Amino acid sequence: MSDHETAPKPITARPGGALRGRVKVPGDKSISHRAVMFGGLAVGETRILDVLTGEDVIRTAEAFRALGASVDMEADGSWRVRGVGIGGLTEPADVLDMGNSGTAARLLLGVLAGHGITAFMTGDASLRKRPMGRVTVPLAQMGAQFTTRSGGRLPLAITGKEEPVPIEYELPVASAQVKSAVLLAGLAARGATTVIEPQATRDHTERLLRHFGATVTVEDRADGSRRITVIGQPELTAPKDPIRVPADPSSAGFPIVAALIAAGSELHLPNIGLNETRTGLYTTLQEMGADISIENRRDEGGEPVGDFTVKASALKGIEVPAERAPSMIDEYPILAVAAAYAEGKTVMRGIHELRVKESDRLAAVAALLRENGVTVEDGEDWMIVHGTGGPGGKGVPGGGTVQTHLDHRIAMSALVLGHAAEAPVRIDDGEAIGTSFPDFVGLMNGLGADIAPD
Ligand code: S3P
Repeated sequence: MSDHETAPKPITARPGGALRGRVKVPGDKSISHRAVMFGGLAVGETRILDVLTGEDVIRTAEAFRALGASVDMEADGSWRVRGVGIGGLTEPADVLDMGNSGTAARLLLGVLAGHGITAFMTGDASLRKRPMGRVTVPLAQMGAQFTTRSGGRLPLAITGKEEPVPIEYELPVASAQVKSAVLLAGLAARGATTVIEPQATRDHTERLLRHFGATVTVEDRADGSRRITVIGQPELTAPKDPIRVPADPSSAGFPIVAALIAAGSELHLPNIGLNETRTGLYTTLQEMGADISIENRRDEGGEPVGDFTVKASALKGIEVPAERAPSMIDEYPILAVAAAYAEGKTVMRGIHELRVKESDRLAAVAALLRENGVTVEDGEDWMIVHGTGGPGGKGVPGGGTVQTHLDHRIAMSALVLGHAAEAPVRIDDGEAIGTSFPDFVGLMNGLGADIAPD
């Protein structure tokens, strides 16, 4: 079977001029998933504002409905989740289809590991290729049973345990999804469940669990690792005030890089999430010479946010420190686009995890750039982009068609590349953009881009 489950929807970005205006970036995907899930596990009604209404989060909502929670979208755009309490989910009558979302699948497996029910889970062609062994191994240690396809992949069946065994688990890879799956199973365990991560990964689970009343402790260790402990069987309670989801710093990367590389651009982006486990792209772009200023730093529901102003900038290639990877793991595709317009080489190392995202992003990004006339060198866990900017630089030729492999970030990166290229850039299928940034094309065109379906 091909990757496509529906007819592909090709889209072309034509070269355009300056991008200007105010950008309302959709809600953070990671936080939206967690707000819906924890609301579904809490006692009472959780209200959530600015939830990402992308396909991925809708899959989480549908799964929680199938498990007995109620999730309603109100006319004003807010969501109401009525939870069942920890351990209160009930057996779903049908297969849970998590679509394209690795976060929905892996975190939900952690939740299900703490329920004495059996559930079946699948996903789209991209998700069915992705490794689930990284969560089934620790969850099996806690007492859950799995039957999976070869390589631990979906579809799978899980039978959880009403009272899983609390464990101490050292993550073999820095992964917020695996950390979260173990902590969520730990909610149902008696006593303390501990995860040790080799490097700090996004900590939205820890912050939001605390916001719902759980006890979560975090020890930062001298070698950069973190030890995170959740005390099981707390009373999770719906917060009194609505949770406001910050704008997604990963999604913001697309209009921001588009503005940096299109001469004369200036964008304002309010309320962008500034959690330091997520902002590696912005540190990197600033080191490359990007004119990005961040004002009005404040806290929204336990997460730091700020307002961005971005102006077109002459960028210079740099070496991105490998230890920064977890804080920008989803941003390498769009960083590679920025690097293509920079002067000199941009070197990215320690990025093996890109190979197991919605697509093999290392291969997909290298192909995206080569297809459009940019020189790239790549190896198992590294990539070097040869920039086309600076004095004597000829710019990015463009003119290619990019294979997106059901990967939203590859699709949007290619369209951003096309906006500033010499010739149009086409993607074979824009369908996946809806998972994280449903109105990406409309929003970009509103700023002055020329992006249209074929
Ligand atoms: C996510 C964690 C990251 C990231 C993904 C969202 C999350 O994956 O790539 O898009 O919400 O926990 P890993 O935890 O596997 O690195």
